[in-house]
Amino acid sequence: MMNPTRRIAICTGGGDAPGLNAVIRAAVISAMDRGWECYGIREGFNGIFFPERYADGGVFRLTRDRVRGITHLGGTILGTTNRGNPLCFPLKMPDGTVREVDRTDEILEFFAKRELDALISIGGDGSLTIANALAQKGLRVVGVPKTIDNDLDKTFTTFGFDTAVAFATECLDRLHSTAESHQRVMVVEMMGRYAGWIALHAGISGSAHSILIPEIPFDLDKVAAKVRARDRQGRMYSLVVVAEGAKPKDGQRNLLAAAEIGHQERLGGIGELVAKGLQARTGKDSRVVVLGHLLRGGSPTTFDRLAALRFGAAAVRALEEGQSGIMVALANSCVNYVPLEEVAGRMRCVPLDGDTMQTGRDLGICFGD
Ligand code: F6P
Repeated sequence: MMNPTRRIAICTGGGDAPGLNAVIRAAVISAMDRGWECYGIREGFNGIFFPERYADGGVFRLTRDRVRGITHLGGTILGTTNRGNPLCFPLKMPDGTVREVDRTDEILEFFAKRELDALISIGGDGSLTIANALAQKGLRVVGVPKTIDNDLDKTFTTFGFDTAVAFATECLDRLHSTAESHQRVMVVEMMGRYAGWIALHAGISGSAHSILIPEIPFDLDKVAAKVRARDRQGRMYSLVVVAEGAKPKDGQRNLLAAAEIGHQERLGGIGELVAKGLQARTGKDSRVVVLGHLLRGGSPTTFDRLAALRFGAAAVRALEEGQSGIMVALANSCVNYVPLEEVAGRMRCVPLDGDTMQTGRDLGICFGD
C-alpha cells in the first residue's frame, strides 16, 4: 500500500501561460488544508539540477504567504523553462561535445532524499511527457494542462488559451479602424505552434476576413482574391490572421531558428511573407503585426482563473485519493482525470469538420483553400 501523501512538490515547465499562479495557489491552499507541506521547484527541474544557482537552494517551501494575492498575476512565481528536458538533457562532455542524457533518475533520488511524496507538474505536451516518464518510474505524479496553444489532447481546454484569445481578439478590434482608415491589408501573426486554435478563435471573434492555420495549407492567390472581392464591394481594407505554424500549400513552415540540442525549433516570420505576397498580388499597402509573446502575458481571464483554480484543487484531491500518472482535465464542464500516457506525445489540432470551422466558412471567411 502507498504511503499517504504528506509533502508535495510543484513545478511549472515550458512556456508560461496566464493562470499558472492560480494553479499553484489553489494547490498549496488545498494541500495545506489537509495538513500537507508544499515545496516549489524553480524553473522546471533546474532547481533540482542546479541548486547553486538559487539563493534558496532551488527548492523552497511554499507557505500560505508565498501564494497570497497571486491568482490574478501572469507568469509563474516558480519560474519556468522550455530548455533542458530531463529526458534528453544537453550535457557538455569533457571533450567539449554536447550529449543528451536522461536525468530523470536524479529527480527520483531528490524526491527520496527530501522525503517528497508526490509531484504536481503544470505544463504542456513536453512537461506532461516528462511527468508520464517519472510516473512510469514510480514517482507519484499528477499533471495539470497548461498552454496558450490549446493543443493538448484529452481535455476540452487548457488554461491560458482563453486569455490569449481574448487579447488577440482585442488587438483585431483595434486594427479594423486603422486598416480601414488607410485602406490597407493588415496581417496579424499569432502564436500557437502547430495548431491553429488561437488564430481560429480570435480570427472569427475579431471579424478577420481571412484566417490561415497550420491545419489547412494555404494558397495566397485565394487570399488575394478575397482582398480584391472586398475591394469590389467597396470594403477597401482586409484583416488577415496567420498562425505562426501556417504554411503555403507548396511550401514549408517559416522558422526563426532551427531546432538545436535541448530546444525545439522556433516558428515565426510567416506574417511578413504573407503581407509581402499580398502587396505584390493586390497592389495594396500591407502591414504586419506580430503578437508573439504578448499572448503569453497579462492577467488570466475569469475563465482561465477559474479553470486554473479548479485544476490546482483537483490535483490535490487526486493525490489524496491515491491517484498517480494522471492529468486533471476538463470534460463536459466537469473536472476529470485522464491517464498521462494518453496525453503524452499527442497533439490536438483544430478539427476541420467542427462547428467552429463551419461557422467561419458560413461567415464567408477565407481559409486560403
Ligand atoms: O507553446 C507556447 C508558445 O508560446 C508557442 O505558441 C510558441 O511557438 C512558443 O511557445 C514560443 O516559445 P519561446 O518562448 O521559446 O519563443
